[in-house]
Amino acid sequence: MYDLIILGGGPAGYNAAERAAHAGMKTLLFEGRALGGVCLNEGCIPTKTLLHSAKIYDYAKHSEEYGVKFSGAAINHEAVVSRKDRVVNMLVSGVASRLKKAGVDVVAEYATIVGRSKEGFTLKAGEEEYTGKKLLICTGSTAFVPPIQGLRDAMATGFAMTNREILDLRMVPERLVVIGGGVIGLEVASYFCSVGSKVTVIEMLDHIAGATDREISQILQKNYIKKGVTFLLSAKVTKLGEGSVTYEAGDKTETIPADAVLVSVGRRPATEGIGLENIGVLTERGAIVTDEYCRTSVSGVYAAGDVNGKSMLAHTAYREGEVAVNNMLGKRDIVNYGAIPAVIYTNPEVATVGETEESAKAKGFDVKSVTVTLKYSGRYVSENESGDGILKLVVDSGHRRVLGVHMIGSYASEIIYGAAMMVDLEMRVEQIKQLVFPHPTVGEVIREAMFMV
Ligand code: NAI
Repeated sequence: MYDLIILGGGPAGYNAAERAAHAGMKTLLFEGRALGGVCLNEGCIPTKTLLHSAKIYDYAKHSEEYGVKFSGAAINHEAVVSRKDRVVNMLVSGVASRLKKAGVDVVAEYATIVGRSKEGFTLKAGEEEYTGKKLLICTGSTAFVPPIQGLRDAMATGFAMTNREILDLRMVPERLVVIGGGVIGLEVASYFCSVGSKVTVIEMLDHIAGATDREISQILQKNYIKKGVTFLLSAKVTKLGEGSVTYEAGDKTETIPADAVLVSVGRRPATEGIGLENIGVLTERGAIVTDEYCRTSVSGVYAAGDVNGKSMLAHTAYREGEVAVNNMLGKRDIVNYGAIPAVIYTNPEVATVGETEESAKAKGFDVKSVTVTLKYSGRYVSENESGDGILKLVVDSGHRRVLGVHMIGSYASEIIYGAAMMVDLEMRVEQIKQLVFPHPTVGEVIREAMFMV
């Protein structure tokens, strides 16, 4: 009998397991694929490893701009992928040893929920049955495969891929078509365009990067057009043929050649086949319904991570796992969904937190916002003379509270947590003006913006 059984060993599950075990709960974690989940194995970490190699290669190609003469730069994609595998293995075994150290029992199998009794919840994996007083579901999400004609066949032959397969591709496709200009599409496009593919991004909306501030998504698009990426916006893919992709844009139908296709049109919570119906856990459009305490509709059952479909980000999953465990332990804890940072690891990076000017206005805030060029930062200019990075600060003009910060430019991914603190702690402009930021850093622009709003 366990105090807690966790389904799924991604960021939500492994973090929750460690926290629960440290708090004294006898914890069992099921993971049928690989510890670390999508994040470590086929998402956040592998893409960042690839993108780092691409960045080094880009620097090498443009080294003369920095006064460094360097010739013979070449990419060895196979070596890049092998390095990615080493990094992933290192981190996955790190998770395994952390769980072991914490005393978590890990079963390398998929389990299903078979029912509940007075003692708790019963799960089955293979022939074995396991019982836990509490249950935490962290089964994550899977890539959505839309009903596009020819797509299933193209996936079977390997012509079309999701994030899972493309990160293991051993060659650089000459022409890569990316369906979906969201986060995955842009990060993958970024890598392959740096290493020599002719990349075309086909996006249904009239802009890339989803809900990102529109001015920032335009700057991002401009940067990638300069690097040679083609964007077909307001365009919908209708068919995949042998070596071709057909799309509709307005009343035009076009077919373009491709050597490989990435399908990145969103992800769906993984709730099928885990036996949720056997205990009556409520789902809505395939996602487990949870409240801010990460409780589901069934007492004693919690859910964290992509499976609730709220904010499909590894760091949200981490936090939700902790929140679930704290609430199980009787420590009231909630997730502040309004202060979750989001990053797109393109080059330049995009990082945002909180409300955009548009979303704040829609919520009825009296908004004041300011846009500042990152050229206010000496460090930014010293590293990006021709950079076009900006920072946008959105404040509530009544209380002068920081509602949102949106950035495009170097180090944005590392700076944004400071802004997330400002949003989470509901800090006011005048308080931030009193803080001292290190100089010279790109982050100083946040402080500078406080004097302009
Ligand atoms: P997404 O939702 O970010 O973007 C999908 C895009 O595909 C949308 O812009 C949509 O309009 C477009 N689309 C949908 N159907 C289409 C069609 N038939 N033809 C053309 N375009 C179409 O989804 P994505 O990029 O697959 O990412 C999935 C999840 O993974 C997201 O929730 C994201 O937050 C997360 N993620 C986060 C990362 C990060 O934090 N850096 C990195 C990668 C993924």
